[in-house]
Amino acid sequence: MNPIEQEIIQLTADLNRHNYNYYMLDAPVISDYEFDQLLHKLQDLEKQHPEFMQPDSPTQRVGGTVTKKFETVKHVYPMLSLGNTYSEEELVDFENRIKTIVNQDIEYACELKYDGLAISIQYENGVMKRAVTRGDGAQGDDVTANVRTIPSVPLRLQGDDYPDFFEVRGEILMPFARFEALNHEREDIGEPPFANPRNAASGTLKLQESAEVARRGLDFRLYYLMGENLPFPTHYDCLMKLKSWGFRVPDVLQKAQGISQVIDFVHFWDTERKTLDFPIDGIVVKVNDFALQQQLGMTAKNPRWAIAYKFKAEKQSTPLLSIDFQVGRTGIVTPVANLSPVPLAGTIVKRATLHNAEVMAALDIREGDHLFVEKGGEIIPKIVGVDIDKRLPNARPVPFITVCPECGATLVKNEDEAGTFCPNELHCAPQIKGRLEHFIGRKAMNLDSLGEGKIEILFERKLVKTVADFYDLTYNQLLGIEKKFPAEDGKAERIVSFREKTVENILAGINNSRTVPFERVLFAIGIRYVGETTAKKLARHFKNIDRLSSATKDELLEVNDVGDRVADSIIDFFNNPENLEIVIRLRNAGLHFELTEEEATPIANILEGKSIVVSGVFSISRDDIKKMIEQYGGKNVSSISKNTSYVLAGEKMGPEKRKKAESLGVPIISETDFYKLIGK
Ligand code: IVH
Repeated sequence: MNPIEQEIIQLTADLNRHNYNYYMLDAPVISDYEFDQLLHKLQDLEKQHPEFMQPDSPTQRVGGTVTKKFETVKHVYPMLSLGNTYSEEELVDFENRIKTIVNQDIEYACELKYDGLAISIQYENGVMKRAVTRGDGAQGDDVTANVRTIPSVPLRLQGDDYPDFFEVRGEILMPFARFEALNHEREDIGEPPFANPRNAASGTLKLQESAEVARRGLDFRLYYLMGENLPFPTHYDCLMKLKSWGFRVPDVLQKAQGISQVIDFVHFWDTERKTLDFPIDGIVVKVNDFALQQQLGMTAKNPRWAIAYKFKAEKQSTPLLSIDFQVGRTGIVTPVANLSPVPLAGTIVKRATLHNAEVMAALDIREGDHLFVEKGGEIIPKIVGVDIDKRLPNARPVPFITVCPECGATLVKNEDEAGTFCPNELHCAPQIKGRLEHFIGRKAMNLDSLGEGKIEILFERKLVKTVADFYDLTYNQLLGIEKKFPAEDGKAERIVSFREKTVENILAGINNSRTVPFERVLFAIGIRYVGETTAKKLARHFKNIDRLSSATKDELLEVNDVGDRVADSIIDFFNNPENLEIVIRLRNAGLHFELTEEEATPIANILEGKSIVVSGVFSISRDDIKKMIEQYGGKNVSSISKNTSYVLAGEKMGPEKRKKAESLGVPIISETDFYKLIGK
């Protein structure tokens, strides 16, 4: 076997084992750094030799593929849905129906009902082949590349006793922590947040860029094994068996003898679900024995052997006291209903969001109305309607505001967007504070010696009005400032004071931020819709702020990831003289507004189309040499063939390599020749 192929196979197996140790056993044996090193090595080898890439390559976990359009494929076995119940009586009815067909005691398997979207994953000869969404049950979308990025989906199975072909069914979901982080990021760049983790999971799974899917942290919970020649005659044992093939089997999976034990399980999880870090919306009960399942068969729509018990969202009607219109950090105006306090699913609800003008209009809220509020366990309270019976005659509609409550600017609502926003981004207090907070963020300038509280103070004292003002702050201005923040929203009262050490840290942090690379500065200045990734792509494409700020719309659209909305937003940003002034001041303060020489790729495409093998020792590191080859448009390859353009030979190049190059007629060049070639 070719030695490179062998190395790729070995690295793939090693990395998959490390992934398994990390994600499934929670017991890693190498550091993250070592893991990344091995992964990069494999990525490099695969790039040079795509023909040797293994179907279970762990590089697929980090994504990189772009799916233009998801192919529609037919399911091998149809994907059924379940009947729903909301009460214990209906669970008893479910068992009674079963007993009219099979008159015997029934054993059930009880599971959580994960709140995400269904997926079917096919395995052929132990290798993950394809992942398909439910679609209409008969056919769905092929989302394989995206599902491969999910760590708990094994790409190659362990053991040797699995059927040649089978499908694992389960739910793709987004854990709460990832959901909150994602929404926070979206708000930062002016994208509307996802309403709930399920929407976030389904929006993410349909993304075209699998690298972005990988970054967002989806998770997978399996709940069914489908196929011929299954290893056990019961559902429970089959799921347990999946563990030995390398799947992560949910912790909560319980056998129940008769429906009364099922009801105990339901009671337990109705309260306990608050402790879970991922969303569920009920529990699922399945007849455990496959032969019985077969015997019970289907009704018109659902299997008779399984049912979903959905947790009730508690609902109350309560008077609307008033509506606040809050201006967010990106200028979006959100209506929030102040309610007469009402107990709901364990807490007292006083406020609930009305989302936007469209939602408010659809609810048709009138003055003095009573509103229905709903809350299910972990979820934030939601207004679901108006209690029409309690409406006063001739009650007037509550209009959405037309001017900004913070700055008085006329609000804007675009036809194709649900949100209303204040366009006065440079002079509206919450938006100014939002920009300042965004600027200091970890992924932006990383000024961690400042924080929300300090920003608030600096803003109030008019010391900082734009992000450029940070660079004019002096020791004497800051020393001794103090402010007491009253207790609110469960947070205790606190005092923020600028003592000597604090001030020194702040100024040192500001000073250090002058070394932050261009791509992060570009993200930090807060162009609407320009997130971290887009900023990176723009920086690499235009290389400096002058080219970016003078780019035409067509030029902007050339950048992968930039669509109409982002392009327009960039143009608007640089058309505003106040933004230009901020950029000039930041530049004068010494911030990076261009790629460093090293970052600028490629300087010239002199090496375009050239495959180069680097061998031996050089005056600079081999990695640096390789980076240079890429910067000048060339390709690094690891073994010499007749297609190799040059062998770049350092000292101590192996005699075998030299012989091979000579026999194939591949030119051998020295380090000096190389520099001449690229004109350095
Ligand atoms: S079993 C025939 N088990 O709920 C068996 N479904 O309509 C089919 N779901 O679309 C599903 N957790 O996406 C099953 N533990 C679980 C589940 C579950 C969530 C979803 C699934 C399905 C819907 C039921």
